[in-house]
Amino acid sequence: MKRTKIIDIFGGKAAVGTEVSVKGWVRTRRGNKHVQFVALNDGSTIKNLQIVFDMAQFDDEQLKPVTTGSAIHVTGILVESMGKGQSVEVQAKTLEIYGTADPEAYPLQKKGHTLEFLREKAHLRPRTNTFGAVLRVRSALAYAIHKFFQERGFFYLHTPLITASDCEGAGAMFQVTTLPLNDLPKTEDGAIDYSADFFGKQAALTVSGQLEGELGATALGAIYTFGPTFRAENSNTPRHLAEFWMIEPEVAFNDIADNMQLAEDFIKYCVKYALDNCRDDIEFLASMYDKELINRLESVLKDEFVRLTYTEGVEILEKSGKKFEFPVYWGADLSSEHERYLVEEHFKRPVILTDYPKEIKAFYMKQNEDGKTVRAMDVLFPQIGEIIGGSEREESYDKLLARIEELGIPMKDMWWYLDTRRFGTVPHSGFGLGFERLVLFVTGMTNIRDVIPFPRTPGNAEF
Ligand code: 4AD
Ligand code: MG
Repeated sequence: MKRTKIIDIFGGKAAVGTEVSVKGWVRTRRGNKHVQFVALNDGSTIKNLQIVFDMAQFDDEQLKPVTTGSAIHVTGILVESMGKGQSVEVQAKTLEIYGTADPEAYPLQKKGHTLEFLREKAHLRPRTNTFGAVLRVRSALAYAIHKFFQERGFFYLHTPLITASDCEGAGAMFQVTTLPLNDLPKTEDGAIDYSADFFGKQAALTVSGQLEGELGATALGAIYTFGPTFRAENSNTPRHLAEFWMIEPEVAFNDIADNMQLAEDFIKYCVKYALDNCRDDIEFLASMYDKELINRLESVLKDEFVRLTYTEGVEILEKSGKKFEFPVYWGADLSSEHERYLVEEHFKRPVILTDYPKEIKAFYMKQNEDGKTVRAMDVLFPQIGEIIGGSEREESYDKLLARIEELGIPMKDMWWYLDTRRFGTVPHSGFGLGFERLVLFVTGMTNIRDVIPFPRTPGNAEF
């Protein structure tokens, strides 16, 4: 008999009174010598299916290996449930055991575990309610992202993971090499001879697909990337990963106002998609971790995001009278306490901050007339701080070249990028959304290590 997923059982795809075949992992078993109840989960939904074993038809010995974490196959009749908490249950006829899970050894017994404990057990934590819910929401959001862009005529562009250019200029790149580390080839002046390396030059994992994204946008009109991104910044915070996923749309002919509207529409679409399609999981997460979660998600959909310049933002912060850990003044890079003050306390809704000082932003951003600021935009969110960073791009060859030279960026790495401004240059804009920060926001989790299956952070590459 064909297996029915538990989500389909609760979705009414199997009729009460018919025989079903279900497979999954045992969450709990309880009962007495007359009747035993097993809560079965197969990962398709947060909900467990109750399996009822009439012990007149089964041996005690048969049920002994059915412990928390074991994998079983049950056939039986789907019946309306007498107990509260579920609409239907299965009256077991046959039991097959795929794999046992020794109760002495299996770490996920039924008592609640801390998120810290579960990080040490990242190979098994997808089997918990919390991580099942987070991973299903994550998957749905990934689908929503493709759907949003595909419905709007954007093309999915695959940008390289191995690159020789540092897009953000932050020097936080992981080097990729096949050179023998204990016997490095040297040039005459004693430097490492990268011409002997695999790519014939120094290479690294990408920090952003944007530069190649611009090549795509100035050909296809509108593209998006969605892939892994690597940053060797040694920041051990609840919002930074060394390996994270980024979505980077890039659109020819868009100015910064268009870019802001795209960012706002995009995030709202994703949040709404999750609310409409992951209700059970989000309700579970709200009940466990954050009673305000659903309100917060709904209010983001309702409110128009504030648009504010950096200069205005700094004025508000200076006048706030609030003592911040890091000082705030014009020219300072804002930290998440400043961003969250604007969003959570001052405006009480998401804020898009624009026109930052050029010194604290990347070389490619469009320079404003004032000579001091660039047409950057950061989208700031409640609980998260910066969720999106983007800008209108400098389309003038001369201005871009001047900035590259001013910052001392090696030209040998940048000639191909400058060619976009030499041949048919156009105004264009784009941004990057940190996927895990979106998942954090939607799930109400508070540590970024808990919204990616296998987090990579300084000192941690287990699993
Ligand atoms: O602000 P960032 O550095 O911008 C860029 O990389 C641009 N090239 C994007 C573009 O315009 N196409 O990064 C974009 C977003 C941030 O707003 C944040 O959400 C996320 O990526 N992010 C991180 N997420 C997790 N861990 C990290 N270490 C992150 N660094 C950035
Ligand atoms: Mg940024």
